[in-house]
Amino acid sequence: MRRKLVAGNWKMHGSLAENEALLSAVLAGMGDVKAGVAVCAPYPYLAQVQSLLAGSAIAWGAQNMSQHAKGAHTGEVSAGMLKDFGCTYVIVGHSERRAIYGESDTLVAMKFAAAQAAGLTPILCVGETLEERESGVTEAVVGRQLDAVIHACGVQSLAKSVVAYEPVWAIGTGKTATPEQAQAVHAFIREKIRAQDAGVADGLVIQYGGSVKANNAAELFSQPDIDGGLIGGASLSADEFLAICRAG
Ligand code: 13P
Repeated sequence: MRRKLVAGNWKMHGSLAENEALLSAVLAGMGDVKAGVAVCAPYPYLAQVQSLLAGSAIAWGAQNMSQHAKGAHTGEVSAGMLKDFGCTYVIVGHSERRAIYGESDTLVAMKFAAAQAAGLTPILCVGETLEERESGVTEAVVGRQLDAVIHACGVQSLAKSVVAYEPVWAIGTGKTATPEQAQAVHAFIREKIRAQDAGVADGLVIQYGGSVKANNAAELFSQPDIDGGLIGGASLSADEFLAICRAG
């Protein structure tokens, strides 16, 4: 049985005061949560998040990292640095980084490899744009994004990762994929991996992301191939985030 994982992606939100209020409220409500829970915070707050969450049931991580281990890369942050602050997870290939910062499939695969080399669990984001969905190439796009990592790191590397299916048209739009739409892509991802390694496919946690809220999480998470969620906006409210965690 795969354990569901609900991870908050705070994106570029938060402050010392807001983070403390949010995390103390979430910690106080964790008693009846069965799913694994994590929050992915902006870099400057990782030390604060570490001190608030150390020893708790909530893991933490970052939202991006460099593909390089060290060196003259002004402004970049390495996987080793994230490890230093107790991170378990790092998001790689979020659609906002692909679209706004021009991250290619190849670069994302390099970041995935560098994360694992440092002992972090990458949360690999994949997903199609609205235009791609409407032209019928969703599986081709998601397949290509997965293949970049499989070719660079091998299918076995996915055993120590999480995949997040995030249709770009559902992110921050309030327009959630229906449970059936999401399940179809999750099943495609799992079957594609199963064709190469059944054990990896069965164990892989595949999260759904894109306008997950307290009122739609349970239906999404009850689909056979949806193993929790990657939560943006709703992860900034303790009540909403906890309700989503309880649905996992
Ligand atoms: P929203 O939940 O705000 O749609 O964001 C989803 C997301 O991008 C998580 O990584």
